[in-house]
Amino acid sequence: MSEVLQLWPGSLDSAPEPLDTWLPAIVERTERALDRYLPAADIPPATLHEAMRYATMGGGKRLRALLCHAAGELVGAEPVVLDGVASAIEMIHAYSLVHDDLPAMDNDLLRRGQPTVHVRYGEAVAVLVGDALQAEAFVVIGELAVSATQRVALLQELARASSSQGLVGGQAIDLASVGHVLPRDELERMHRMKTGALLRAAVFMGAHSGTVPLAPEVRSALDDYQRAVGLAFQVVDDVLDVTTDAATLGKTPGKDAQDHKPTYVSLLGLDASRELARQLGDRAHAALAPLGRQAAHLDALVEMIVHRVR
Ligand code: IPE
Ligand code: IPE
Ligand code: MG
Ligand code: MG
Ligand code: MG
Repeated sequence: MSEVLQLWPGSLDSAPEPLDTWLPAIVERTERALDRYLPAADIPPATLHEAMRYATMGGGKRLRALLCHAAGELVGAEPVVLDGVASAIEMIHAYSLVHDDLPAMDNDLLRRGQPTVHVRYGEAVAVLVGDALQAEAFVVIGELAVSATQRVALLQELARASSSQGLVGGQAIDLASVGHVLPRDELERMHRMKTGALLRAAVFMGAHSGTVPLAPEVRSALDDYQRAVGLAFQVVDDVLDVTTDAATLGKTPGKDAQDHKPTYVSLLGLDASRELARQLGDRAHAALAPLGRQAAHLDALVEMIVHRVR
């Protein structure tokens, strides 16, 4: 462990909080932060605000928030700043789910164990919920108590992840690929864009939230980490669509095959997809080695991503 980098003064002195208390505490503070940041349901237009809350609050695993806090800890970022950053990312994520579920996209009726937003509030409201959540995320970052340089870095990271070369581009490729067999490199590219880009943003926005600049070795470790977990996450999502029941998954299983979506399972089969997820998990663990126990929470999230059941 003599090779382990000291990330900020004192970072090696205390042991990270055990995962079984850290994880629920971050999930809970994320729920509270989202509740604070989202417009109240009685502010006009009340139906839109109620639906934004319906789309965002409760039920999510808050993986992006967890990644953001875990990466932020590495640079000694203030937890309240991370709450804002994590909320913004979760808002982008929630918007992407609302639009992903629309009849014009995946046409899904169930999300996080509840009727999807368009089922509950109608399609037009669901479109507007997504639009408004996306804008609200940038409002939240714009108002954070960080330096102007940090704010610009955070805004750029989130905008790039959400762009046509990130999440939205990946969704466009997903829709254009229905009924096609994608070569493996194109499937990987699609997954990295539609899902990996926002997971990358969660890691790097957490890491940009501290007051110390990122050391090149840390940047490189986080980059290798996010590449591995970003892909692993969507590979597992493809697997769970085939293997998990609606009650556990909180969404309709079997949709990918039914809709002729190219997925890792359709290309490689179930066993090889599971094996790939495990290998990516190993790669993510290895990426964190130079950071030692300072990265214990990021390390534990690899297991959550690879072995999750929903
Ligand atoms: C589901 O994401 C959509 C994908 C990007 C694959 P999550 O599985 O993180 O969804 P929640 O937030 O826990 O509901
Ligand atoms: C969704 O991918 C990716 C985004 C929402 C950006 P999926 O379509 O596979 O997600 P689920 O399975 O509906 O959650
Ligand atoms: Mg989709
Ligand atoms: Mg979908
Ligand atoms: Mg899916």
